[in-house]
Amino acid sequence: MSGNRTFTMIKPDAVENGVSGAILKQIQEAGFKIIALKQTKLSLEQASKFYFIHRERPFYADLCAFMSSGPIFPAILEKENAVEDFRKLIGATNPANADAGTIRKNFAESIDKNAIHGSDSDENAVIESNFFFSELERF
Ligand code: CMP
Repeated sequence: MSGNRTFTMIKPDAVENGVSGAILKQIQEAGFKIIALKQTKLSLEQASKFYFIHRERPFYADLCAFMSSGPIFPAILEKENAVEDFRKLIGATNPANADAGTIRKNFAESIDKNAIHGSDSDENAVIESNFFFSELERF
């Protein structure tokens, strides 16, 4: 059964480009409710922990360096069928392959600087949400 929450991060490229507000607007207009949201900046150590699942991948070091290079906006989102619907809204990992109108097509530069993260399963949505947010930060 699919859950009703997912986790996202607006990545350092999008924050630096000043498009966080536009991305949040697109997320809300697609019917997602914001349950938690903050601005923060990961240390290299924290980014390495968050992306530990990718530790064997050739892009792991660059990914951790990039994700700790500037502020991000992590958020928990709620909507029926949240994980799947949100991945449709953000589009393919590589913006060159993303459908027109998706967040990555609208705002991302490259597969590395791809503007936004979306959890790939209900299980990972819970793990990733718990990485950033306490129960007191969720409404
Ligand atoms: P995301 O799915 O949010 O989290 C892992 C990130 O690794 C992914 O976004 C991409 O930005 C980045 N990445 C870089 N190279 C690749 C690749 N070849 N395949 C998948 N992800 C990649």
